[in-house]
Amino acid sequence: MDSTSEYLFKFKGYNFEKCFVNIEHLETMEDFEIRDDDVFLITYPKSGTIWTQQILSLIYFEGHRNRTENVQTVDRAPFFEYNIHNLDYVKMPSPRIFTSHLAYYLVPKGLKKKKAKILYIYRNPKDVLISFFHFSNWVVSLEATDTIDHYLEKFLDGKVVGSCWFDHIRGWYEHRHDFNIMFLSYEDMKKDLRNSVLKICSFLEKKLSKEDVDAVVRQATFQNMKSDPRANYDNIIKNEIGERNKGYFLRKGTIGDWKYHLTVQQNERFDMIFKRNMKNFPLKFVWDVNEE
Ligand code: PPS
Repeated sequence: MDSTSEYLFKFKGYNFEKCFVNIEHLETMEDFEIRDDDVFLITYPKSGTIWTQQILSLIYFEGHRNRTENVQTVDRAPFFEYNIHNLDYVKMPSPRIFTSHLAYYLVPKGLKKKKAKILYIYRNPKDVLISFFHFSNWVVSLEATDTIDHYLEKFLDGKVVGSCWFDHIRGWYEHRHDFNIMFLSYEDMKKDLRNSVLKICSFLEKKLSKEDVDAVVRQATFQNMKSDPRANYDNIIKNEIGERNKGYFLRKGTIGDWKYHLTVQQNERFDMIFKRNMKNFPLKFVWDVNEE
C-alpha cells in the first residue's frame, strides 16, 4: 500500500475512490473466483460505464428489458472493486455481470483463463477529461478543482480515480491477448447504437429477437436513460453519496464537448502529450461529432 490523500486511496500503484474502499476486498480481488460465464465491463471513468451497464442489463435481464422488475442498473451490473450495496458476489446467480475501472494488472487472475468475457469501452480522452472535471465538482466523494487548467494537470499526472488514462488503455490493449476481450468506443455507440448493441450481443453470444434489440436500443438512448431512475446514478448521488451543487449524471452525452471548454493552448498541450504517449497505438479516437 502506498500514499493516500483525502479522496484517493493508492493501492498497488492505482488510485481508488477512497470513500468506497474496502481494503480486505482490494487485497483479495486478484484471487476472486471467476466463472466461465462471468462478464466484466471495464472502463476508465467517464467513458460510458453506466451506458454500457444499462445495455448489458437490458440484454441479459428480461425483467429489465420489459420493465417488469425495478432493479437499478448499478445493482444488475455492480462495481467489482466498490461493492457499495454490499451484494454477495459469490452467491450471485450466473451469469454475473461486473463493472470495473481496474487496471489490467489488478483484475482477478481467473480472467486469464480467457473464458469469461471482458468488454472494454473507451472514449476520446478530451471528452473524458471534461466529463470528469464536471463530475468531480459535483459529487462530494471526489476532489473539486477550481479551473480546467488545474484539472488538466491532475488528469495528465494521473492524480485522479483510475490513475493515468494513457496507462489504463495502453495496459489493457497491450495485454489483450491474455484475456477474452472486445474493445468498443463510446463514439461508435453514439454514432450507431443499434449496430453497437448487435456487436456486443455477438461477442457475448446472446441472441435477441429484433423486437428485443429494439427495446434495448430504445432504453439505452441518452434521453431515455436520463429520465429512467434505474438507469442513472442521480438518486444514488443525491441520497447516498452527496452532491455539492445541482447536477446530473447524464450531463451532455455528446462527442466533442471538450471544444467548448479547452483553450487553444490547453488543447495543444493535450495533443502534444497524447502524441507522445499514444505513438503507434492502433485504436482510433473520434474527437468530433462530424468525424467519420
Ligand atoms: S462513471 O462515473 O465512470 O461511471 O461515468 P461513466 O458512466 O463512465 O460516464 C458518464 C458519461 O457518459 C455519458 N452517458 C451517455 N452518453 C450518451 N448516451 C448515453 N445513453 C449515455 N449514458 C451516459 C454521461 O452523460 C457522461 O458524459 P458527459 O460528457 O459528462 O455527459
